[in-house]
Amino acid sequence: MAYSEKIKQFGIQGFVPEGWYWLKRSDEIKKGKAYPAKLMDLEVVLYRGDDDQVRAFDAYCPHMGAHLCDGFVEGNSIRCPFHYWKYDQLGICTEIPAQKEISNMPSLKSHKIREAYGLVWIWTGHEDDSEPVPVIPELVGLPLDYTLGSNFVKNCHPNVVMINAIDVQHFRSVHQLIVDLEMKVTPLSDRCIQFSNITPMPESNIFLRFAKKFYKKALTYEMTYWWGHTGSVMVGPDFLHFYIIFALKPNLNGQTEGQTILVTKKRKGLMGLLVNPILLFATKLVGNYFAKGDTIIFSRINFKFQTPIRADKAIIDFVEHYEKQNVAPKFSKSEVKNSHEKTVTV
Ligand code: FES
Ligand SMILES: [Fe+2]
Repeated sequence: MAYSEKIKQFGIQGFVPEGWYWLKRSDEIKKGKAYPAKLMDLEVVLYRGDDDQVRAFDAYCPHMGAHLCDGFVEGNSIRCPFHYWKYDQLGICTEIPAQKEISNMPSLKSHKIREAYGLVWIWTGHEDDSEPVPVIPELVGLPLDYTLGSNFVKNCHPNVVMINAIDVQHFRSVHQLIVDLEMKVTPLSDRCIQFSNITPMPESNIFLRFAKKFYKKALTYEMTYWWGHTGSVMVGPDFLHFYIIFALKPNLNGQTEGQTILVTKKRKGLMGLLVNPILLFATKLVGNYFAKGDTIIFSRINFKFQTPIRADKAIIDFVEHYEKQNVAPKFSKSEVKNSHEKTVTV
C-alpha cells in the first residue's frame, strides 16, 4: 500500500481540525460596524461592541436569513437589517418591532473569539475547551511587541504549506542551504509538535567558522506547529532570535490563506523604541522570504505523499501527529476530499 493511502487527514481538503484559526485583522473591525467573515463554509458576522469586545455569530438571521453584516451594531447588540429584530451580546433575541412576544424566538449561534497579535481568531473546537492561541515557546509569559507582515494565498492545503518549514531536502535543492538540517521532534502536547535542528554550524570556510561563534550548540532553527495549520519559527544566532508566526487557514477553493506575524520581546525605554521596530522590520524580511518562497511549486503541486524516504522523517512525524487531530465539531459533517478523487464523509 502506498504511504499516501494510509493518510486520512493530512492535506485533505475539507478535514478541518479543532483549533484557533485567524479570521481577520483586528484593525479591520471598527467599533459599531458589522463585518462578514468566513472559515471554509462557516459564515459569521463579526462586530466590535461598545465594550470593545469582538463578537461572532452565525451570519444569517434566524428569522428569514438576512446577512447580519448589513445590520446595525447597537451597544453590544446587533440589529438585523431586514425586519429589525435585535439580538443581544449573547445572541438572544431581545426585540421584534412588529410584536411584543419574544420568548421562544431562536437565538443567534455564537462562536468563541479571541484577539491576539493584531488578529481576530475563531475557535472551532468544543465550546468548553479553552486552549490558548498559539504562543512562541521561548517567549511564553514575556511581554511582546508584534506587528503583522504579509498576507498571502497559496494554491494548496495549509498542511502542505507547513511542510515547507521542515522539508530538509528542499532546503538544499530549492534554497541552496549549504547545511543538511536534522530535525529533532518533540511533541509538546496532543495538539502541538516541535521540530528543532540539531546540526551544528559547519566550519568549512572562514566565514562559517566566524559565524559558528554565534551558534554555540546547533544552527538555531525551530518550528512549532499547532493543529497542523499554524506554526511559529525561531531562527537566529544565540544572542538574537527572530520569531515569526505563520497563521494559516484553508478555504473552499482548496487554497491556503496565510498571515505572517512578526514577534519580538518587549524591550524597555529607548532600547525598545529604537531597537524593536528595526528588529521587527528585519523579521519581516525573513518572514517574506518564507512566505514568498517556493511560489511556483505551491501553485501547481498536487500533493500526494507516496514515496517517503529517510530524509522525509520530519514530514512523516508531522503527518502522523496530524492524523491524530480531532475534527472540529463545526466541520464534522463536511465532505472530505483529497487532492485527487476520493470522497468520504466524516
Ligand atoms: S430576516 Fe432578520 S429580522 Fe427578518
Ligand atoms: Fe521553501
